[in-house]
Amino acid sequence: MTADHFQDPRLAALYDPLDPDRGDLGPYLRLAAEFGARQVLDIGCGTGVFALLLAERGIDVVGVDPAGASLDVARAKAGGERVRWIHGDATALPPLRADLATMTANVAQAIADPGEWRATLKGARAALRPGGHLVFETRVPARRAWAEWHREASYSVTDVPGVGAVESWFDLIEVDGPLVTFRGSCVLADGQVLTADSTLRFREREEVEADLVAEGYVVVDVRDAPDRPGREFVFLARRPAT
Ligand SMILES: C[S@@+](CC[C@H](N)C(=O)[O-])C[C@H]1O[C@@H](n2cnc3c(N)ncnc32)[C@H](O)[C@@H]1O
Repeated sequence: MTADHFQDPRLAALYDPLDPDRGDLGPYLRLAAEFGARQVLDIGCGTGVFALLLAERGIDVVGVDPAGASLDVARAKAGGERVRWIHGDATALPPLRADLATMTANVAQAIADPGEWRATLKGARAALRPGGHLVFETRVPARRAWAEWHREASYSVTDVPGVGAVESWFDLIEVDGPLVTFRGSCVLADGQVLTADSTLRFREREEVEADLVAEGYVVVDVRDAPDRPGREFVFLARRPAT
């Protein structure tokens, strides 16, 4: 299930302006360079920020996302024609031999359903060439990121070109074991209110490692995200060479 804010064109258009600091993508770019990746599959590419950074570097990029409104934003960006955008998910991809598959900005948590998650790992593995890598991040449950998902901690006003001042904030709705549901709200300059609810799954490190192994990966490393020390697990897994 994809959260409304990626499906609603009005909210998809605000995704980049409301979160302009993409320092989180630096480590992914460095890994792509380190692996000498020539083809990358970006799963949950959203508005295409990472896919376009890769394409700028001459990499053949396939971006897949179930949210059509986000893909429309991605396609319309400068260089959008250099990326192969696929409306869907990792379970129904054309044949690929990617050197690297990525899920940036906690896409893994947005895939909350266990069956869908395992099917995503399976699809990513099939899209990788033997020896290719899968990299993604997920928030460390013990850090309880959701404790800050309330209006006082998250409220901001952003001046969005062509739109005007946009107020935005998050409200926590429910914590049900590993599932955390929250509401994102935006108020536009004309008083229009946009809201969208999302449910994320917080997985323990051991759980993710077990899922990766069960889907035929070798877990190469579990790192810290340099821009969010102690807050994220960054998984680096490999499809075995044979
Ligand atoms: C927080 S956004 C991250 C977007 C992008 N990766 C980035 O770095 O900006 C999460 C994305 O995951 C996508 N998503 C949700 N369920 C998915 C699934 N089953 N397969 C692939 N992507 C999914 C959403 O549509 C959304 O674009």
